[in-house]
Amino acid sequence: MVPGSRPDPAAASASGYEVTVCTDEAAQDRALTAELAAGLQSVPKDLPPKLFYDDEGSRLFGEITRLEEYYLTRSEHEILTRAAPEIVALSGAGTLVELGSGLSQKTRLLLDALAAAEALEGFVPFDVNESALRATASAAAAAYPGASVHGVVGEFGSDLPSIPRAPRRLVALLGGTIGNFSGPERQKFLAEIAGLCEPGETFLLGADLVKDRDRLLAAYDDPHGVTAAFNRNILRVINRRLEADFDPKKFAHVATYDDEMQWIEMWLRSEEAQEVYLRRLALSVSFAPGEAVRTEISAKFHPAQVSDELTAAGFSVLAQWLDGAGDFSLTLARRADGSPS
Ligand code: AVJ
Repeated sequence: MVPGSRPDPAAASASGYEVTVCTDEAAQDRALTAELAAGLQSVPKDLPPKLFYDDEGSRLFGEITRLEEYYLTRSEHEILTRAAPEIVALSGAGTLVELGSGLSQKTRLLLDALAAAEALEGFVPFDVNESALRATASAAAAAYPGASVHGVVGEFGSDLPSIPRAPRRLVALLGGTIGNFSGPERQKFLAEIAGLCEPGETFLLGADLVKDRDRLLAAYDDPHGVTAAFNRNILRVINRRLEADFDPKKFAHVATYDDEMQWIEMWLRSEEAQEVYLRRLALSVSFAPGEAVRTEISAKFHPAQVSDELTAAGFSVLAQWLDGAGDFSLTLARRADGSPS
């Protein structure tokens, strides 16, 4: 947390941006107790990947994006470097809404292209991590003094309706974040995004592509142990927020690729029989030796599948770009007229 980071409207307007906190940490924690109780008592055990992104997790994710093995960020950057002006022109947008903005660099490429087209009016970063969101909002307000910057701290599950309206928005979900949703959840989420858009507004979706299994696995199990540290950090987050006593050393990082589901899974495998107590849930959870808890799925796509899923959600696809190696995709779609299917 940034010291003194409670919203202070006066300070916010002096620094040129506004922040709406829909779900602060205390509210998130209350919702989390039910979610974790269910996840830790299901078979197999399951944890929500949004918990990765405390300050340390956001920093570790930043480190992941610079790893040789983690091609996703570089591939997406390559596409944006080439296609941002075309994306901006096709979208006709004035305001960029970025879902899950974190501390990203790629946002700059889109904002620069909007500014170069003299179209930039506003920027709405949306993120679950308040300090990351504030850092992004304040950097954007400084870099684009003419733009109105309005950050929203919230969760995808409940807070998308708090995204402010603005003329001609381009909503972006980049980095492959869509991969964290299973098929049915994805369809619901994409339809919700379509529902938020006015007819004619556009949506830019980054999706990682199906490829050689060894490269996929290397991207989620790097030899430097950064992904392992990122994965184990989720246990520290739970310890802090739910007063639990996980010992991260007693869990091994495991990444697998499921061909049929077309997704990477990340797990933490208990190396021995152990019991963990979560005080705020008044819940004891036991792990058998070798028992693993799933912390993330990261789905991979075929380009046509991305288009089909967007169409099913109520969008019409305008264009799709791949990087030179064909590793990653960006798809631009317009909210279709009429109600989403
Ligand atoms: C931020 C969800 C796109 O799935 O590749 C990176 C998270 N997990 N390494 C991904 C992640 C392990 C990442 N997303």
